[in-house]
Amino acid sequence: MKIPDDVVKKIATAKSIVFFTGAGVSAESGIPIFRGKDGIWNKLKPEELANFNAFLRNPEMVWEWYNHRKQIIHQSMPNQAHLSISEFQKYFPDVSVVTQNIDNLHRRAGSKTIYELHGNIERNYCINCGTFYNEELPFEGRVPKCKCGGLIRPDIVWFGEMLPEKEFSSAEKAISCCDIFFIIGTSAVVYPAASLIYAAKENDAFIIEINTEETEASKIANQSFRGKAGDILPEILNIVKEEISK
Ligand code: OAD
Ligand code: ZN
Repeated sequence: MKIPDDVVKKIATAKSIVFFTGAGVSAESGIPIFRGKDGIWNKLKPEELANFNAFLRNPEMVWEWYNHRKQIIHQSMPNQAHLSISEFQKYFPDVSVVTQNIDNLHRRAGSKTIYELHGNIERNYCINCGTFYNEELPFEGRVPKCKCGGLIRPDIVWFGEMLPEKEFSSAEKAISCCDIFFIIGTSAVVYPAASLIYAAKENDAFIIEINTEETEASKIANQSFRGKAGDILPEILNIVKEEISK
């Protein structure tokens, strides 16, 4: 893969870098993506699983599904993409990760500043009183209940719900002053998360996309790389390290 010299120089001289990530960054860890022919939403209906009314109708089914996803996530490990993103922190003073993923893999890879736009599968909260439950809750066919008697749900943003305000505004702030904005492994079609891409463009960040396919974001990217994030990111990191040490 050829990484143009001017792109290498731009990255090497950056002060602030934001990585905006989606399901594709975890694909090589064995976690299925949502869209496309093998995507989750091609087999299952989001309105039956990722939706508050669906949860009220059938909380057991929703819990069962998230428990299944949690098991896959627990068996998986951060891949070269997560690890490279984390290694960028060694060479740049200001690196943040803005992720749509709920799988905790950026944290497990060592990234320090992470804004989780869609929640985190490790956390749960009571739909009645809002108490958080961060410990592992046993699920044996019965939905865990809060001390107050309310049903406990995963802390994941479902369709039609607001994004966590603080995470979103912190992400906006990081994006407002970044020099380089990487868009990695996202189809860039889910809003309001995808709006951040346009915010980065408006703020004149240099936009680099990494995806196995062309996406909505390709149209505005200054540079697109086609291929797996786990192959391309380590290559970029290596060549940037060489440039920095010159
Ligand atoms: P999608 O499934 O929509 O898109 C995943 C993207 O990753 C696609 O563009 C693939 O081409 C790309 N891809 C797959 N493997 C890759 C690899 N190894 N390296 C690089 N790219 C790869 O996932 P998201 O864009 O993350 O929301 O979806 C956004 C939101 O929709 C999710 O956060 C989720 C879902 O409904 C909630 O759960 C709230
Ligand atoms: Zn409660």
